[in-house]
Amino acid sequence: MFNLKGKVAIVTGAARGIGQSIAVELARNGADVVVSDIIPGSATVSKIRALKRKAVYVKTDISNKEQVENLMQEVIKKFKKIDILVNNAGIFIIGDTKTLKEEDWDKTIDINLKGYFLCSQAALKYMKRGASIINLSSVAGMGGFCQAAAYCASKGGIRLLTKALAVEYGPSGIRVNSIHPGIIETAMTKELLMDKKVRQGMLAKLPLKRTGKPIDIAGPAVFLASDASSYVTGEEIVVDGGWISSL
Ligand SMILES: NC(=O)c1ccc[n+]([C@@H]2O[C@H](COP(=O)([O-])OP(=O)(O)OC[C@H]3O[C@@H](n4cnc5c(N)ncnc54)[C@H](O)[C@@H]3O)[C@@H](O)[C@H]2O)c1
Repeated sequence: MFNLKGKVAIVTGAARGIGQSIAVELARNGADVVVSDIIPGSATVSKIRALKRKAVYVKTDISNKEQVENLMQEVIKKFKKIDILVNNAGIFIIGDTKTLKEEDWDKTIDINLKGYFLCSQAALKYMKRGASIINLSSVAGMGGFCQAAAYCASKGGIRLLTKALAVEYGPSGIRVNSIHPGIIETAMTKELLMDKKVRQGMLAKLPLKRTGKPIDIAGPAVFLASDASSYVTGEEIVVDGGWISSL
């Protein structure tokens, strides 16, 4: 357990998957949590309230500046401060580069990269010494993967956005780190992992011989949110069952 009592956290894309797990684990460790997503977040809110922590849902498209600013204002109205921002919302549009549509490139960059910038920019206006931003990148932000040019570019961008913000806000005592998951079982990877050949191929590459679950990402996120990581900034934590970590 880490001590997040009295902290206020925002998790984007928290209605399901990795974001939901992070939101619930932040609450289990004491934080009140703002659940943000474009889809309804009531399931996550209920799980947090069952842990006797405060939770509210604020519908937000992270690629829309106005909606992002509204999210931060709602949080300030309700909780008076922002201690933790988990930039987690994201999309993955698979496609061969020769046929990838320009609109899919734009959508990927708008949500996965610009959205992280907009949320960080808006939250930083209210963040004080001791605050923590955690960005969900990917192993796809550290190396190239087939049929994932837009996704890799967006996740690589997050990696360096993280380091740039860490340098800029370090003197203010605000930490910014990234988490790089490998293959995690969520709606995002469901179709891919349904293909037995693909699944077997992936498992063969994983030293831990299993795919990840959202809870595997939540632990490192709670650590980065807490004062236990108070001297860690600009860091990238790879959580991939040893896949690229062991190369
Ligand atoms: N699942 C994996 O294997 C994996 C691996 C590496 C990185 N990641 C990253 O982890 C994060 C969470 O992914 P997941 O696997 O839980 O996927 P998911 O699809 O289950 O969840 C993503 C959430 O983001 C929300 N979202 C999408 N567009 C949004 C927008 N414009 N504004 C606000 N919310 C939006 C969705 O509604 C959804 O609830 C993503 O950034 C993803 O790229 C996932």
